[in-house]
Amino acid sequence: MVKLIWEGKAEKPVNLKDLKNKFLNYYKIFEVHPEKKIQNNLDKEEWRNKLFWGNNIEVLYHLLNNFKGKVDLIYIDPPFFSGSNYQIKIKDNDNVYNTIAYLDHWEKNLDSYLQMLYERIILFKELLSQTGLLFIHLDWHASHYVRLILDEIFGEERFINNIIWYYYNKYSAGKRNLPRAHDDILVYSKSNKYTFNELRIPRKKPKKQLMREMINGVLKNVKDKNGHVKYRIVTDKKVDDVWRIPCMQPASKEWSCFPTQKHHKLLERIIKLGSNEEDLIADFFCGSGTTLLVADKLNRKWIGCDISAYSIYLSRKRILNFHNKISNTPENIRRFEILTNFTEEHKKVINSGFFEKEIIIGRKN
Ligand SMILES: C[S@@+](CC[C@H](N)C(=O)[O-])C[C@H]1O[C@@H](n2cnc3c(N)ncnc32)[C@H](O)[C@@H]1O
Repeated sequence: MVKLIWEGKAEKPVNLKDLKNKFLNYYKIFEVHPEKKIQNNLDKEEWRNKLFWGNNIEVLYHLLNNFKGKVDLIYIDPPFFSGSNYQIKIKDNDNVYNTIAYLDHWEKNLDSYLQMLYERIILFKELLSQTGLLFIHLDWHASHYVRLILDEIFGEERFINNIIWYYYNKYSAGKRNLPRAHDDILVYSKSNKYTFNELRIPRKKPKKQLMREMINGVLKNVKDKNGHVKYRIVTDKKVDDVWRIPCMQPASKEWSCFPTQKHHKLLERIIKLGSNEEDLIADFFCGSGTTLLVADKLNRKWIGCDISAYSIYLSRKRILNFHNKISNTPENIRRFEILTNFTEEHKKVINSGFFEKEIIIGRKN
């Protein structure tokens, strides 16, 4: 089998025992929704969606305690090895300042980037259920390497698709190369019994199509009693592996100002394709919370994680805004909690009242 090698390639980042002692306790710092508002079956089930604030490698180890083989769909949109730092502008009372939303700077050290993903992908596989699917969103910088890593961990026979997300509305200058206008979403399954729902989209124009039927295992044209082939008019078609969905634009009312926010339509497709209602969806690089919000809207349970306080702030805010919008149907509202392992840094941010403040996050000037 072909395997990718890099300097320092190691299956486990640290001794699991050390991690157990240091990191495996997470505490609720925030619970959303007074129980009395919720009167449906979900309430009885005691499930709360979970947003972890912390380094995902620690959170993944923590989740192995109770969620091994229980997650139905994992989508991640990690840093792409782009070499950029993504900045945002914060307005906090009268203070306006620029800060980093997240770093994608590896000093061009591909080894450390690949090792970071490798360790996490091993744990994703552990968490996935037998019918589960993993979607890894990348671009030209590293997707070709990560596909080999996925072949190694999942097995090349578990490769399902390389979805091309074609974002036709983003200007990308390329003087010495063609403008880059797509990302890759690599899809792998845990077993051959994975959930996969057919998706259909409307055609631009209705199409006349031969009617076909299966007779004794052979596909044949359907004929009328005079022996003439029969046609039907089709107005939709199966979704294929090239998805023409725009990039989020600042003019959109869904725009959260998070620099690499993905379009909710992209996540809607992924979640509908690979899961059913009540399934558990996870995103361990959740950014502004798009996956969690869409999962919530589509009546899936979710677990999210991000290392950045701004991401936690935004994810929480977006989900709360959605819950406020549907407050006339409280039976559709699912509780969620924010958890952390209380590092010194976390304590400082919490004690500053960060999550209670009205912070406006904007694009960096
Ligand atoms: C490309 S963004 C995700 C954007 C998201 N899909 C959205 O729609 O907003 C990547 C995120 O990964 C987070 N991240 C990077 N390294 C992490 C780590 N080790 N643990 C948890 N989160 C991490 C960053 O803080 C950033 O928010």
